[in-house]
Amino acid sequence: MDPKLLLMMAVSVVAAVGGAAADYVRPLPRKALQFPWSPKHSSYPQQVHVSLAGAKHMRITWVTSDKHAPSIVEYGTSSGTYTSTAQGESTSYSYVLYSSGIIHHTVIGPLEDNTLYFYRCGGEGPEFQLKTPPAQFPITFAVAGDLGQTGWTKSTLDHIDQCKYDVHLLPGDLSYADYIQHKWDTFGELVQPLASARPWMVTQGNHEKENIPLLKDGFVAYNSRWKMPYEESGSNSNLYYSFDVAGVHTIMLGSYTDYVEYSDQYKWLKADLSKVDRARTPWIIVLFHVPWYNSNEAHQGEGDDMMASMEPLLYAAGVDIVFAGHVHAYERSRPVFKGKSDPCGAVHITIGDGGNREGLAYKYIEPQPEWSIFREASFGHGELNMVNSTHAFWSWHRNDDDEPVRSDQVWINSLFSSGCLAKKS
Ligand SMILES: [Fe+2]
Repeated sequence: MDPKLLLMMAVSVVAAVGGAAADYVRPLPRKALQFPWSPKHSSYPQQVHVSLAGAKHMRITWVTSDKHAPSIVEYGTSSGTYTSTAQGESTSYSYVLYSSGIIHHTVIGPLEDNTLYFYRCGGEGPEFQLKTPPAQFPITFAVAGDLGQTGWTKSTLDHIDQCKYDVHLLPGDLSYADYIQHKWDTFGELVQPLASARPWMVTQGNHEKENIPLLKDGFVAYNSRWKMPYEESGSNSNLYYSFDVAGVHTIMLGSYTDYVEYSDQYKWLKADLSKVDRARTPWIIVLFHVPWYNSNEAHQGEGDDMMASMEPLLYAAGVDIVFAGHVHAYERSRPVFKGKSDPCGAVHITIGDGGNREGLAYKYIEPQPEWSIFREASFGHGELNMVNSTHAFWSWHRNDDDEPVRSDQVWINSLFSSGCLAKKS
């Protein structure tokens, strides 16, 4: 083949992955999913999801309508042979005219790393499988926020299911129930195939608030249904916590709880960062809902106060990557601090493009700020492969009709390996 033609082909391939493709025709919005009523036996386990719960432990959460269904999980490494049993606890909540089912939370372990377990909830129902994360690099995180429950959500979940990932990270806005509580139940049903098989680690967004002045506090459904390992990480609130997995210290923060200096969350964050041992966890990643670096017109400036309070803490600690949601689009920054590119700052990624019913945020501020390197209003998901203590490969996969198309990718070097931490100390 003519070498000139080959060169042109190579250039066009690089251009396609290096920026938003100009010829991409964005598909139309998709409708909310319908969930046909399928009555189950009252103690039948439903809405099963799992999460990390301290070293070598996982929390299994499920819902039954039977108040007396036991909160036990039987598990083992062979199908149908359960060599261990764990007893958990249960809770429930009421919300105006709605009464939730019984929500069971049972911690199992100690578990072997990188191992397939078979488990059953409440002594009956189907057998589920989960894989524990590896103890060492490499580890892959799937990342998508602002999921909701539309046809696009289903498409995003199908793509995440196709990728080989160990832990799902969700930077807020899960069900879009928005006060209609049974939508939390349908969301639990929708995500069960994925969330029962790999740990789903979530933080909350504005759609989780659901507070009614003088009647209902915020985050009632979220806190009851999506219990995260806050006690295990020394936090006094389910709205912010941290966990270690395979050399990565991950911090989940709350954009809608106090973050000013000397607030409980701020003090907890400061103490948590001070305990990080970079020899054991060379990477630090942080998730919260409202982006600090956002050049979309949507939600412009909403993260400024939290950023003013907490960005210096993250910078001083050498946080590598920050994920946010809220804006229904994708954007990746250069390493940045105080509004300017800084080789020792964090890479900020907005990934609020899981597929919710509100649609995409199309309008961007022009010109594109110097710190913003890639931005596009499409639904999709991300994959973060932490290859070793120094290198991570990030890719963003746009939902192009029903195929996941890798549209942005970058190698990220850890700040630990770049000499930045020595400069900051
Ligand atoms: Fe949001």
